Amino acid sequence: MSVKRALITGITGQDGAYLAKLLLGKGYQVFGLHARRASDTLWRLRYLDVEPEVELLEGDLTDLASLIRAMEKSQASEVYNLGAQSFVGTSWDQPVLTAQATGVGALNMLEALRIVNRKARFYQASTSEMFGLVQETRQSETTPFYPRSPYGVAKLYAHWMTLNYRESYGMHASSGILFNHESPLRGIEFVTRKVTDAVARIKLGVQLELRLGNIDAQRDWGFAGDYVEAMWLMLQQDEPDDFVVATGKTTSVREMCQIAFAHVGLDAEQHVVIDPRFYRPAEVDVLLGNPEKAQTKLGWRARTGLEALICNMVDADLARVGRSLACA
Ligand code: NAP
Ligand code: GDD
Repeated sequence: MSVKRALITGITGQDGAYLAKLLLGKGYQVFGLHARRASDTLWRLRYLDVEPEVELLEGDLTDLASLIRAMEKSQASEVYNLGAQSFVGTSWDQPVLTAQATGVGALNMLEALRIVNRKARFYQASTSEMFGLVQETRQSETTPFYPRSPYGVAKLYAHWMTLNYRESYGMHASSGILFNHESPLRGIEFVTRKVTDAVARIKLGVQLELRLGNIDAQRDWGFAGDYVEAMWLMLQQDEPDDFVVATGKTTSVREMCQIAFAHVGLDAEQHVVIDPRFYRPAEVDVLLGNPEKAQTKLGWRARTGLEALICNMVDADLARVGRSLACA
């Protein structure tokens, strides 16, 4: 049997690294779209020990020609579109870039499949941010959308384009509506990692306080390593479809902080300072997913609880900060 070939956009991101590891473990040849950047973006692939096995192809989601070339070079039969300007906060400062990379970028990738190989299977990284001002207490595949950020709006465009290409051209294009998922590879700007990094620094005596915005916001948080399995499962189905991927539990930022500080014997109340600079122009107050369809049809369920996840992230940051102090 010939080796399966997959192309991942956003391979240098959190999910891209975990997905690359998963697919390599299943015997895939993995190609990754890689935008040239001045700074080192390959650290996550090194952290998971997969950098040498991944073939990087230069390109950008805003450059259709580079995507066509990536499709031709990779000969991929599965394409995972994870690339995006993914930080909600930045999407108010750079709404046009967010629309281009996160919204039209997905359309460009779909066009590249349509031009080069419309039989290739396509995964779109949709998001619970599309539910925004939630219209139902537990959000499922049938819950109406109401995005609350330029990022959410751009993702909704990409989501509907994925459905439209499925219906217009019969493409195997699926959309995973993933709720927040975290790991030691999470970007430092997202709240879980901002907290676990600060906890490590405070514990090791190199930081005094942690400044946060709306700590009453609630999220349905899972582990990224579990969530990339759901992406792969979606592309193994006979028919393309949309799936909510979530734990089915929601927790406030405040409670998540308490878990992180308590793990190292500290009290969050003593160190967290509310700073209005981190409030958003429009907030998503609470997200809570209903993953029943993914459980029934994909046989997928979240395996990692929030407490274990946050403690693991704190431990990873303690090790990281400890190493940087030893080198200083
Ligand atoms: P991430 O860590 O922010 O990674 C984003 C990736 O996109 C990076 O590899 C980045 O490359 C790449 N990228 C940015 N602009 C690009 C462009 N113009 N062309 C090509 N690549 C570009 O995000 P993540 O947490 O892994 O999430 C993966 C995807 O799932 C994203 O689309 C995100 O919006 C979506 N999502 C995430 C979550 C979550 O909780 N993590 C939940 C739902 C949906 P550089 O490293 O070179 O900047
Ligand atoms: N980042 C950040 N920094 N968030 C804060 C802070 C802070 O200092 N203080 C409070 N928060 C609140 C935010 O206002 C938000 O309500 C919540 O913490 C989570 O923020 P993020 O971790 O930045 O994630 P997000 O929910 O906005 O977006 C993430 O999840 C989406 C899925 O729901 C990103 O990964 C998106 O790309 C993803 O689509």
